[in-house]
Amino acid sequence: MAILVTGGAGYIGSHTCLELLNAGHEVIVVDNLSNSSIESLRRVSELTGKTIKFYQVDLLNKEKLDTVFGQNNIEAVIHFAGLKAVGESVEIPLFYYHNNIGGTIILCEVMKKYGIKRMVFSSSATVYGMSETTPITENSPLSATNPYGRSKLIIEEILNDLYVSDNSWSIAVLRYFNPIGAHKSGRIGEDPNGVPNNLMPYISQVAVGRLKELSVYGNDYLTLDGTGVRDYIHVEDLARGHLKALKKIMADSGVEAYNLGTGQGYSVLEMVSAFERVSGKLVPYRIRDRRPGDIGICYSDPTKAERELGWVAEKGIEEMCLDAWRWQLSNPNGYQELSNTSSEFENPRLIVM
Ligand code: NAD
Ligand code: UFG
Repeated sequence: MAILVTGGAGYIGSHTCLELLNAGHEVIVVDNLSNSSIESLRRVSELTGKTIKFYQVDLLNKEKLDTVFGQNNIEAVIHFAGLKAVGESVEIPLFYYHNNIGGTIILCEVMKKYGIKRMVFSSSATVYGMSETTPITENSPLSATNPYGRSKLIIEEILNDLYVSDNSWSIAVLRYFNPIGAHKSGRIGEDPNGVPNNLMPYISQVAVGRLKELSVYGNDYLTLDGTGVRDYIHVEDLARGHLKALKKIMADSGVEAYNLGTGQGYSVLEMVSAFERVSGKLVPYRIRDRRPGDIGICYSDPTKAERELGWVAEKGIEEMCLDAWRWQLSNPNGYQELSNTSSEFENPRLIVM
């Protein structure tokens, strides 16, 4: 029996595939490579010494997705595939709704056809909108401030409706806070397209000399140093959370949301200092105006995940920064130079379907 991982070539997906393989699961990946490289999966199979079956398939292509289910004995789906750039979602909302919501509906239809009703879904702390009450629990009010966030909120509602219609579905909705860091080998990590929007990849690219200086968006929030506070979580901790959620959905039916965060907030300037400490590099920065749509403080109450999944984040910010730095140093241009079709890097354990 296999686990189907949609979006498995991406940042969080590749780290989760690695954990799944190490735990002895059979892994099948479906990804259209719109925001990733197959090189991440080659490296995952190298690191684990295990086989991955890969389908370059778009979730919107129902016929091809059906073939994937027809050809494999799938027991559950971990659904990462989606577009995630907040700014881009404001510019091309229809594309975001079509891809994220449309892709999820097609996936659920095909799952239903094959009688596979177990899913772990990648949601986001973005579903808490402009919530100013911290720590944020799963019962905090939900809202959306941009089309990306709204796509996550709508998908959560669709999954709830699905369960109401058929109580044999078993779905874990994981609301990630701010995933950062990389696998400790430095072989896989976050590889954003173009200039990064998020803090940690921006800091790493300044430290490695690819970008000149960091813009710190606002120093007048009601925080210890005035800069924005977030709940950064190591991507390896996050990946482990998916295995715990998988165990839960194998045992119980229902639909439940879980915050995956550390429960601890750090400011932008604290992150800059931590990064400078572990890398030995200076990260020049300039204070700018607040970024529209940002909130001052956002961190999780992760106790539901601890209580019901037996999961807690273990890695602190120094380890997050160190692992992000190791990845950045050994892959200054990410996976960029490597073509998605290059045979030079062929790996017999990556079976491309
Ligand atoms: P990512 O872009 O690295 O991975 C997403 C993957 O999905 C990519 O490999 C992309 O090629 C693929 N994909 C997109 N649309 C597809 C489609 N229609 N068909 C097939 N494949 C498709 O992003 P990530 O950071 O690994 O995020 C994974 C999931 O977690 C996303 O759903 C994202 O919204 C969510 N999330 C991410 C963060 C974060 O900060 N990274 C925070 C909260 C939630
Ligand atoms: N920041 C800067 N300079 C930058 C980038 C960010 O000062 O160049 C600041 C932001 O103002 C914020 C903090 O660093 O205070 C974190 O910003 P990120 O962009 O890294 O993360 P956000 O919390 O704004 O949002 C991210 C994802 C969202 C997701 C949310 C919760 O981009 O999609 O985490 O998971 F919803």
